Amino acid sequence: MPYFEPELQLTEEEFRLIRDLIYNHCGLFFDDDSKYLLDRRLGQRVAHHNLSGFREYYQFLKYDRRRDEEIADIMDLLTTNETYFFREAFQLKAFTDEIIPEVMKLKQRERTLRIWSAGCSTGEEPYTIAMLLLEMGCFHGWRIEIVGSDISHRVVQHARKGIYTKASFRATDERYLKRFFTETDEGYRICDEVRELVTISQMNLFDANRLALLGKMDVIFCRNVIIYFDQTSKKRVIESFYNTLRGGGYLLLGHSESLMNLSTAFALKHLKNDMVYQKTDTTGGGVPK
Ligand SMILES: C[S@@+](CC[C@H](N)C(=O)[O-])C[C@H]1O[C@@H](n2cnc3c(N)ncnc32)[C@H](O)[C@@H]1O
Repeated sequence: MPYFEPELQLTEEEFRLIRDLIYNHCGLFFDDDSKYLLDRRLGQRVAHHNLSGFREYYQFLKYDRRRDEEIADIMDLLTTNETYFFREAFQLKAFTDEIIPEVMKLKQRERTLRIWSAGCSTGEEPYTIAMLLLEMGCFHGWRIEIVGSDISHRVVQHARKGIYTKASFRATDERYLKRFFTETDEGYRICDEVRELVTISQMNLFDANRLALLGKMDVIFCRNVIIYFDQTSKKRVIESFYNTLRGGGYLLLGHSESLMNLSTAFALKHLKNDMVYQKTDTTGGGVPK
């Protein structure tokens, strides 16, 4: 009989301890059915640190002086980073044709536009926003700031590098490729004109101190991020978005996400191309209780 080395397996108790630690850090919730996922992905970290098993790994995550670094590393292993340029075209049309003209009218004096792509993965979303605004070509004399942020170091580094391969262009019209990218040996590099509008930061959406430094936003894109959170985490993040938006600002979620049962603080607005959420409160206060 061949002998197979048994794989490292999380006990029920270890699973709950590690799962709760991850949840408290970043809101990602692994239900009982995804135990195998932590087994597989974190098993490699146990081996990497030469630890005896998951119990010792849990102690490492909790008390070791390298714990912050380790938690950051496992975020790279546990997050789903699927994204591409010009994702959800109908929503982007609502953004360029209806939301931006309204925001521009409102901010005619100030001439600043601040947009946050929260959970931006490898950067396709914030760069798409920048390309769309450049294409609109009506921002002479305006200060445009687009902030892309993500919890995973790996995707943040990719976004900063700004070089992309075919999979990122599955919904991209050829003309954008021609105007905003140069072909290199590694792939297509986003041009400086686009890059200059975008700042990429590593940021956990549950880090209230970091969020407080962001300042007010006119539009927040948070698409395909909260699907991985449980109800409590979703509510917490939505409340942060509410506080970060200026009165009248817009929140754009992914097409399979909604604020149903999460918040009544936003108004659902029916635009020609899509339905979006708007913070109607203009007093700048927090979420109405
Ligand atoms: C599926 S991608 C979505 C990318 C892009 N918004 C889009 O729709 O194409 C989800 C991203 O959310 C990030 N994320 C998950 N939890 C997060 C948290 N607590 N703080 C910040 N980013 C988080 C993940 O790292 C991942 O890159």
